[in-house]
Amino acid sequence: MKGIILAGGLGTRLYPATLGVSKQLMPIYDKPMIYYPLSVLMLAEIKDILIIHSPHDHYSFRRILGDGSQLGITISYACQSEPRGIADAFNVAESFIDNDPVTLILGDNIFYGAGFKGLLNSTLQSNHGCTVFGYNVAEPERYGVASFDRNGCIERIVEKPKVAPSNIAITGLYIYDFSVSQRAKDLRFSKRGELEITDLNNSYLKDGKLKLAELPRGFAWLDTGTHESLMEASQFVRAVEKSQSLKIGCIEEVAFRNSWIDQKHLEALAKPLLKTQYGTYLQNLYSHDR
Ligand code: DAU
Repeated sequence: MKGIILAGGLGTRLYPATLGVSKQLMPIYDKPMIYYPLSVLMLAEIKDILIIHSPHDHYSFRRILGDGSQLGITISYACQSEPRGIADAFNVAESFIDNDPVTLILGDNIFYGAGFKGLLNSTLQSNHGCTVFGYNVAEPERYGVASFDRNGCIERIVEKPKVAPSNIAITGLYIYDFSVSQRAKDLRFSKRGELEITDLNNSYLKDGKLKLAELPRGFAWLDTGTHESLMEASQFVRAVEKSQSLKIGCIEEVAFRNSWIDQKHLEALAKPLLKTQYGTYLQNLYSHDR
């Protein structure tokens, strides 16, 4: 299984904050946004990861994450010259995917909840075709939304409908089989000029190959697409990290707990950060058995 983080786009909805910096590098409380989706792929035990970025941002991403070897993974990079839609990720990533199954996560999505690692691992194992994750939201019109038939089976996904057929939004985490690149090639641009992830998902649905996994009550899914939601995400992370003394999206911790790096490596990663609470947290991971 390979992993892709889609971290391109112009971030226009966050202007002027994103005029000089990629949206996915903006801080969410104590770490860059991209740490959160990266930690999700790492929780899923995916070690071969491609980051798709916009033309100006290659150096910034590489400066932060390098080739991934410090985390025991491999990170490569590809540029999307223009934001042609989320499903365009599979055209940009075609040679990286090389007909393997792949998990795509949007660079601005944050997931957090008990049992997530187990859910990810079992979903990856049982995927036949495509698996998407549904989440109950108050304003479904902002997202791709699931429409259900009388028996409660998913029959269609509708992208940003004027009137939502349900409250179940499709989150920005998608698992696909080997056929995804070919399916992406068959897509046509939508009226808004994008290759839509929803059209790709509906192609699996039409073939009876899409599974909807609903994220349970109490689970947190945050999309950081607006100034408001960006601030709310920071507040959420701060509140959880403060009350539990456990971090969300700490990539060094996931690498250590997955046994991809040993104590010596973790110490080396913590060293330049020791003036910060983040560094102390890493230090505590190897000082105490927690
Ligand atoms: O967050 C989940 C939602 O993400 C889904 O429910 C929707 O079905 C899906 O279309 C998407 O909706 P958004 O309105 O959030 O998509 P947005 O255009 O904001 O793109 C999401 C991320 O992907 C964003 O961080 C930028 C990146 N992106 C987007 C496009 C269109 C790219 O890197 N390249 C692109 O061409």
